[in-house]
Amino acid sequence: MHLWVRNLKSEPISSILEKIKTVGQQALEQIQTACTLEGLDQVRIFFLGKKGVFSLILRELENFSSIDRPQLGQSANLWKRKIQQALLEKKEELQEFLFQQAIENEKVDITLPSKFQHQGKEHLITQTIHRIIEIFFSLGFDVASGPEVETEYLNFEALNISQDHPAREMQDSFFLTKNVVLRTQTSCAQIRAMQQQSWPIRIVCAGAVYRRDDEDPTHSSLFHQLEGLWVDQNIQMSDLKGVLEFWAKRMFGNQVRIRFRPSYFPFVEPGAEVDISCFCQLYANQSKGECRICKGSQWIEVLGAGMVHPELFKRVGYLKENHDQNIRGFAFGMGIERLAMLLYQIPDIRYFFQGDLRFLSQF
Ligand code: DAH
Repeated sequence: MHLWVRNLKSEPISSILEKIKTVGQQALEQIQTACTLEGLDQVRIFFLGKKGVFSLILRELENFSSIDRPQLGQSANLWKRKIQQALLEKKEELQEFLFQQAIENEKVDITLPSKFQHQGKEHLITQTIHRIIEIFFSLGFDVASGPEVETEYLNFEALNISQDHPAREMQDSFFLTKNVVLRTQTSCAQIRAMQQQSWPIRIVCAGAVYRRDDEDPTHSSLFHQLEGLWVDQNIQMSDLKGVLEFWAKRMFGNQVRIRFRPSYFPFVEPGAEVDISCFCQLYANQSKGECRICKGSQWIEVLGAGMVHPELFKRVGYLKENHDQNIRGFAFGMGIERLAMLLYQIPDIRYFFQGDLRFLSQF
């Protein structure tokens, strides 16, 4: 760019002034057309930098007579200030533009539908276990746990299930080795608890149990149980009734009634099966014969229970020490799937284990 003619002195001052003006206008033009901050800076360096056009002009002015110098200097400085001002304004304009551009690029359209986020939650069986445990927890029961792989002794023998009891037969149990089974019931928790600590004991224990069974809508070879045990001095059957009634009302509603039917379980004496009044009883307009749950009987069996058999106390060494102290206890055991099926009207136990989110996500 030929902005400046070195041979200034021979030119008339008006022509020099004109040249300064031309250079100044060129600078302003280039400033206006700059579209990046880097480009703008290059324009600044070219015109106003240490070795830029205006430094050159000012240096050259030294060669002029002291009469012309002030006028020329004034004009050069005037243009210099104009250019500085224009640079500043353009810089602000560009910065604002870049800022707006960045905002535009980062803009989030809040009217767009969100991507569906799957949120995990507890399996219905776990939810049901927690619901039951909370009720017993409020009555002072502790939560115990035991292994799913259990010795044959704890699963059967210690619970007074003799060698020839039908429950022992291979078709009912999964044996892992000669004396080791997948527990068929959580009742072994009773023995474990009494082996580990002395009375008083108040525990519930929930978990998976396994039985060799053909699967159908009400049978599965894996299911869950919750066992309860309360051992103390002078515990009576009426305590068992009170505790289970409290639980049933919390679980199913205040109108629910319970009843005990005599039954046999080798580890309790006396033993009972416990029913709750069927839900159909709550609705006056439902004729009793129609109910699909109780099939008109008005009662639904929900658990087994009874007073701890003295044989168990003997096996854990309680009776020897405490024969004169009236140590008694009650125990109960319930199937979790069955309760969840009743509560949520689930028709097939196999739904629990198929991992189908269409089913699971409903609860
Ligand atoms: N273990 C029994 C079962 O699996 C249930 C049971 C019945 C547990 C009576 C008990 C009880 O504690 O007293 O069928």
